[in-house]
Amino acid sequence: MTRTIIEPFRIKAVEPIRMTTRDERAAVLAAADHNLFAIAAEDVLIDLLTDSGTSAMSAAQWAAIMLGDESYAGSRSYYRFEERVRELTGHRHVLPTHQGRAAEAILCSLLGGEGRTFLANSHFDTTRANIEFTGAEARDLLTPIAADPAAYHPFKGNIDLEALDAALDELGPERVPMVILTVTNNSAGGQPVSMANLRGAREITARHGVRMFLDAARFAENAFFIQSREEEFADTPLEQIARQMFALSDGCMVSAKKDGLVNIGGFATFDDDELALAARNRLILTEGFPTYGGMAGRDLDALAQGLKEVLDPDYLRYRVRSMAYVGEALDRAGIPYLKPTGGHAIYLDAGAMLPHIPASRYPGQALACALYLEGGIRGVEIGSVMFGKPGPDGAEVPAPMELVRLAFPRRVYTQSHVDYLIEVLRDLNERRDAIPGLEISWQPPFLRHFTARFRPLSG
Ligand code: F0G
Repeated sequence: MTRTIIEPFRIKAVEPIRMTTRDERAAVLAAADHNLFAIAAEDVLIDLLTDSGTSAMSAAQWAAIMLGDESYAGSRSYYRFEERVRELTGHRHVLPTHQGRAAEAILCSLLGGEGRTFLANSHFDTTRANIEFTGAEARDLLTPIAADPAAYHPFKGNIDLEALDAALDELGPERVPMVILTVTNNSAGGQPVSMANLRGAREITARHGVRMFLDAARFAENAFFIQSREEEFADTPLEQIARQMFALSDGCMVSAKKDGLVNIGGFATFDDDELALAARNRLILTEGFPTYGGMAGRDLDALAQGLKEVLDPDYLRYRVRSMAYVGEALDRAGIPYLKPTGGHAIYLDAGAMLPHIPASRYPGQALACALYLEGGIRGVEIGSVMFGKPGPDGAEVPAPMELVRLAFPRRVYTQSHVDYLIEVLRDLNERRDAIPGLEISWQPPFLRHFTARFRPLSG
């Protein structure tokens, strides 16, 4: 008999969440101009805005906090952190940063610039922004099957190896500072990258003499998918799989706010001595002395502990099962989402669910607002609000997909929270024709999703 895969922890400290009525939420939504970023967390019942920096730390991590050594130079916490990161990645040089984008900014400022092209399976938004800020190009070479949200593939986050080889032929090694493999691939639905794909990319980049880096924010979830979906690794411990992933790269950039199981932090690693030296000099300028970078000693200790805990097989089985559990319920209710479920989030296909709302009336934003209104649940639109661009005739060019991401903080919510989410989604789906589209009443010149104001359209 297969039994429920339960939360592999019990709860020592609780954080109350506040119940609100539908009328109260309607008032909150109106006051926020229907932008969920403008809502106070106090007014949210279940917050699925992001899995970044929202993890619950373990008792062992809180204990590690008390071991924090806040020495400016050479703190004990740094050495404990460095040892764990070296053990995991095998890379020689380890630089702590305050979060992932700080590591990206340092690398891009050293390697970017006009005429350069960074290639990736998918660049995460902040990586793309850091690359483009230097005048370089960020080009995605995602496996073609990922374009179909309903298609199943075990490794839908893969890079297209043929396209990678062709791009490197076209550009030549001097124009490509690095190839980045984002594991798991957040922008493509939290989908994993296979070891075979990492090996293929390694072979191609080595042949062309180009560096390969991992954007490894969710490396542990990726390792779990490799173990469960790639036969060769069925019996390989997760720690070994993770080490093999890193061993195929020349370095990595990591937001520790995800699989580091901490609320703030990040790092970069390198094998290349010269690049590491340049990065360390830049780190001193922008983040801090190399043995703390952008972090407090106590946070380095909590991270060193988090990087061990996250590869616990029971934890990862429960984590990935939680996503699949929601997916199965959505299948039963006929609610469309990006398939298969990934490691950290469910991406509802608002475009398919709300066909009566055209892209110009933002179906993703409409669904995200409805989820808040009906259930106090906060997700985030990943569609034409976030990625739509004004076209040459003034009309907007819509995003390729209209999604709502529901990202799950690690070790924070229980199965009954998830069951509640499913109930709200089922109710909404039954009344989906009544969900109104929105228009933008005000927007800033860039990154509009954070601060734009919306007006719901009646009827
Ligand atoms: N890379 C990936 C794959 C990410 O998902 C993120 C952040 C970053 C880099 C940047 O790291 O936030 O520590 O500076 N993703 C968050 C999210 C914001 O909600 O998906 P950061």
